[in-house]
Amino acid sequence: MNIAIDGPAGAGKSTIAKKIAARLGYIYVDTGAMYRAMALYIVRLGIDPKDAEAISANCNNADISIEYEDGVQVVLLNGENVNQYLRTEEVGFMASTTSANPDVRKKLVALQQKLAASTDVVMDGRDICSVVLPNAQVKVYLTASSGVRAKRRYDELMLKGEQCDLAKIEEDIIARDYQDMHREHSPLKKTEDATEIDSSYMTIDEVVDAIIEMKNKVIQ
Ligand code: DC
Repeated sequence: MNIAIDGPAGAGKSTIAKKIAARLGYIYVDTGAMYRAMALYIVRLGIDPKDAEAISANCNNADISIEYEDGVQVVLLNGENVNQYLRTEEVGFMASTTSANPDVRKKLVALQQKLAASTDVVMDGRDICSVVLPNAQVKVYLTASSGVRAKRRYDELMLKGEQCDLAKIEEDIIARDYQDMHREHSPLKKTEDATEIDSSYMTIDEVVDAIIEMKNKVIQ
């Protein structure tokens, strides 16, 4: 069983995918974390995230793999656990830029397809329904308004005690959406066969239940 979830930044994909995986006993694959690890690799080499040629020349030297510790996905970059560096806004934006590179995508898509071939997965990202798992039995396009997404992110940062500006967060979310939706290779889009769920006014559990219901219908 493959459950594919695509959607823009901050729509709640990873929170929801993790819960679904825990309830069903599936593996959760956070593909955004792989693109973030690749961005980290590129930046650590001192390469400009916009330098496509240098990225293509170097991306195959990054050995990115995934392990699970107590059900939590650990991303290894050349053997180093890089989880702690991945979840910042800065790395997210860099990943949005470097992920536009077709050589980066080719490498990571192959890894994602290999993971899904051998086990039941819930996988989230931008091109899961369209490119990575076009034959997934359940396909979801999860979205929410940019205002709601920004407010969720703002609350998360405030809880961590980090200073932040709501308007700036929304501006960054809109810029990242634009970049992810307008790139040449595998842009974020809703495929015709995906079910759109707008989570703006839904609780996390309501979304989780709706997707599990879709899965149950498939296996009936
Ligand atoms: O889901 P996220 O915010 O962790 O993703 C970070 C960036 O990686 C996102 O802006 C675009 C890119 N990405 C992608 O191009 N394809 C995916 N399947 C997942 C993420």
